[in-house]
Amino acid sequence: MCGIVGITGSREVAPMLIEGLRRLEYRGYDSAGIAIQQPGGLRVHKRQGKIKDLEVDLPWEEMQGICGIAHTRWATHGEPNRVNAHPHQFGPVALAHNGIIENFSSLKIQLEKKGHEFLSETDTEVLAHLIEDQYDGVLEAAVQRALKLVEGTYGIAVIHEAEPGKIVGARRGSPLVVGVGKGANYLASDVAAILGHTRQVIYLDDWEMVVITPDDVVTTNINNEAVAKEVEEITWDLDQIQKGGYPYYMIKEINEQPMTIHDAFRGRILPDSGDVKLGGLQLTDWELRNIRRIIILACGTSWHAGLVGEYLLEEYAQIPVEVEYASEFRYRSPIIDPGTICLTISQSGETIDTLEAMREAKRRGAKTIGITNVVGSTIARESECGVYIHAGPEIGVASTKAFTSQVTILTLLTILLGRRNNLSAEFGMRVLQELQRIPGKIQKMLDMSDDILRIAEVYKDHSNFLYLGRGPNFPIALEGALKLKEISYIHAEGYPAAEMKHGPIALIDPNMPVVVLCSRDGSYEKIKGNVQEVRARKGKIISVVTEGDEEIAALSDHVISIPETLDMLTPLVTVIPLQLLAYHIAVLRGEDVDQPRNLAKAVTVE
Ligand code: F6R
Repeated sequence: MCGIVGITGSREVAPMLIEGLRRLEYRGYDSAGIAIQQPGGLRVHKRQGKIKDLEVDLPWEEMQGICGIAHTRWATHGEPNRVNAHPHQFGPVALAHNGIIENFSSLKIQLEKKGHEFLSETDTEVLAHLIEDQYDGVLEAAVQRALKLVEGTYGIAVIHEAEPGKIVGARRGSPLVVGVGKGANYLASDVAAILGHTRQVIYLDDWEMVVITPDDVVTTNINNEAVAKEVEEITWDLDQIQKGGYPYYMIKEINEQPMTIHDAFRGRILPDSGDVKLGGLQLTDWELRNIRRIIILACGTSWHAGLVGEYLLEEYAQIPVEVEYASEFRYRSPIIDPGTICLTISQSGETIDTLEAMREAKRRGAKTIGITNVVGSTIARESECGVYIHAGPEIGVASTKAFTSQVTILTLLTILLGRRNNLSAEFGMRVLQELQRIPGKIQKMLDMSDDILRIAEVYKDHSNFLYLGRGPNFPIALEGALKLKEISYIHAEGYPAAEMKHGPIALIDPNMPVVVLCSRDGSYEKIKGNVQEVRARKGKIISVVTEGDEEIAALSDHVISIPETLDMLTPLVTVIPLQLLAYHIAVLRGEDVDQPRNLAKAVTVE
């Protein structure tokens, strides 16, 4: 995810900014840059690639100065390249920005009418122009006026060539922390960047701003009212900070899901009309209405997300869907009729099997749509159009937050296509209003982590697990089993619950923990029978039920209650306790959950 560093003091700032950026590398990025204030103006240097490349490239002699800002960019709008990298300079203003300016297109049109010309594809450049447009001698006042015109999220650091030693910061929805030093002050999106200089920090809240100079820190809100802030002392070390205080990236990423799901639907839903807009799709209403068949291509966890998508798209958008293992699809002779589109789902956008399957589909005439996380990845570039899931970098090898973001995008796609076919506006409204409550419901599940830890303690030494689910919870059973096996090395199988009696039931005895997904949805009555079948054979039942369900609870050894939601959105909630169960079991067994053996984050070999 993007990172910001700003420093104002009395020493050469460029080496310190580079050092700060290096400490943000763990967040993932694709390009970086720095902007330095100098007596004659601003000096900006940026490039695609790694910090070490930026460092080698930097014309150090020309980058002298004692006040500057720097940025690592994880692309959201526009490819990762030098022009799109931050800081963005427009005339006397330079700006580094994290977040997404949702109304950047309309702001851009207004500014173009005033004669502004834009070089990049980014939303951030528009904000740099807007601040310059509002400037009348006091930078913080211009920033305040500009931000009042902005919809979306931001953490920003801004400098102006006419105000030496001053950095203005502001926050809404994207973190910003002020480092309080002696004769120097700091601004960053993450304390890791400034920890080498100070442990005294002020965390800004939404709608707050700060003006830092070498000897002063002034905090206000966006209305220019003074805000008194507490200075806090950082007691964590760097490694802990990079993981946000969590012991592993995996658990950090599991806990990010209320935010990442929100980021996946933010700016894309129209809850008042029950509709969805996915700008990246670039398909007309006529084209959307004429999709006759969808083939989903993916691997692993992304394939499981595709299976959830199959349930959603067939049930609610009435479009036939096939979900293919990418590795199998590419070696068959798949039939692509006119009106077939291929959805390629990949977190990394680099999985070779998925990429090659997409190329095969393209060769056979399918329209290809990529659902990816990494902007500018090969699948994102080679698909004809696509939708980014905006989950931020996923560092833990076991995919968690990408899965729920992929399912969120498939939910949006279902509403978009369904509304062009058969779905009523009322249904769309109900789903989208409930979707906005999902981050809160997931938070409730995350708060139950200790309860799940206690279940993990009971079963951590078992050698086999079975996961059962029906309908859209069947892929969640597969995903729960995959999470457990890949990080704890316990053999685990996911099955459609009714299929159990055709074979796996032979395995059930008092040593077999069976995780059953029994949320109160369309399959509830049927799955009750499957729970009885396990109980009759004395299997240990860990059930995931809807709050208040006493019937299944009475049949279970352990119960995990999830908040009630619409059938369509249930998989987003039921997967959370399974991620936590897998995580806790692996940690209790002493495994390194971020680097499971034999696995890689992006599988770029066949
Ligand atoms: C499981 C996992 C893998 C990936 C698979 C596809 O936790 O991470 O199964 O889901 O390798 O990767 P992407 O989505 O990057 O194509």
